[in-house]
Amino acid sequence: MRRVIVVGAGFFGRLVAARLRDRGFTPLVATRRGADVRLDAEDDAELRAVLERDDVVIDTAGPFADRTTRLARVAIDVGADVIDLAESLAWSDAILALDTVARAARVRLYPACSAVAAVAGACVTASGIAAPEEVDLFLAPASAQTASGATVHAFAGSIGLAIKTFRDRRIVQVRGFTESRPFPASVRTGGIVEGAHAVLLPRAWPSLRRAEFWVDPNMALGRPVLSAIAELPLLAGIARGVAPIVPARLVGRRDGEFATVVRAAERVAAFTFRAARGSYRIAVEPAVMAAEALARGAMPPPGVVLPNAQVDPEELFARLGGVGIAIVRA
Ligand SMILES: NC(=O)c1ccc[n+]([C@@H]2O[C@H](COP(=O)([O-])OP(=O)(O)OC[C@H]3O[C@@H](n4cnc5c(N)ncnc54)[C@H](OP(=O)(O)O)[C@@H]3O)[C@@H](O)[C@H]2O)c1
Repeated sequence: MRRVIVVGAGFFGRLVAARLRDRGFTPLVATRRGADVRLDAEDDAELRAVLERDDVVIDTAGPFADRTTRLARVAIDVGADVIDLAESLAWSDAILALDTVARAARVRLYPACSAVAAVAGACVTASGIAAPEEVDLFLAPASAQTASGATVHAFAGSIGLAIKTFRDRRIVQVRGFTESRPFPASVRTGGIVEGAHAVLLPRAWPSLRRAEFWVDPNMALGRPVLSAIAELPLLAGIARGVAPIVPARLVGRRDGEFATVVRAAERVAAFTFRAARGSYRIAVEPAVMAAEALARGAMPPPGVVLPNAQVDPEELFARLGGVGIAIVRA
């Protein structure tokens, strides 16, 4: 069995480690403040002291937009595979740029192996639509629990500022939260945000013309208020400044939902995953599955592992069902 290291022990890092323990693994938890081992993911010497050939690393150390790819580059040097939970488009773009060196070193990199790439990718595969033209992702996080420093940082950066989305077969800029779209199977509406899907899904499915991400912050008046103030630069700036200090545990909700809609010509397939409690497991299970497979000896082709190959869709859906996530397919 290969050694599994979880980097970062915030909300998602702790969940990943706990889930690996449930599955019979004993992950090594590495953090800047010292858990099983002290590790700053941006410190070359510390990375080289901790990482070893054949390690399987799950990187949860967000916010990823503030990180460099140093951990992935050291992992490539030493021969360790890396799975990350990044939401960031720029981060995933930087990981894609390491594909050639990772292939040469026979190392595997799984960018955004969470909701936005792995679960969305599993839905595209499970739709049976071989040449998808449009994919929409929808997220209403269990904000009362998941509004950590890193996730609020990622989300607040989308309010009213220029963000990137994949439209008309290319990355274009729009202003975050100034456009909205209804969720496929609920009364929610999401505002447009940036995400890793915009560079990863078109790489996996070159037929895509559009891949976009819509978020309902899932707190009282959250999305309508954000959409209104996103148009007003002064208020949008205030919202970005205030977001990190809003007591999400008081104003947020505990239920949550993630959905993916896949379209091509006359065909539409929609997948909705939801739970009254614990919907954040949707983002954790793909990384745990990928790590388990690698640790037990799976040898997928080296290089960047795209969302069409990160996890088996039916196995993912069964595992999500097993941790209390209801799945609606339409
Ligand atoms: N793609 C998706 O679908 C998806 C879903 C869920 C979460 N995410 C992302 O996952 C990330 C983690 O979320 P979270 O809620 O767990 O955040 P969090 O609670 O703020 O935790 C982040 C953790 O990363 C650690 N960290 C940051 N920089 C580090 C570094 N250089 N070296 C070592 N550790 C470092 C922090 O350690 P310190 O305590 O030392 O600061 C903290 O423990 C976020 O970026 C979030 O957006 C993505």
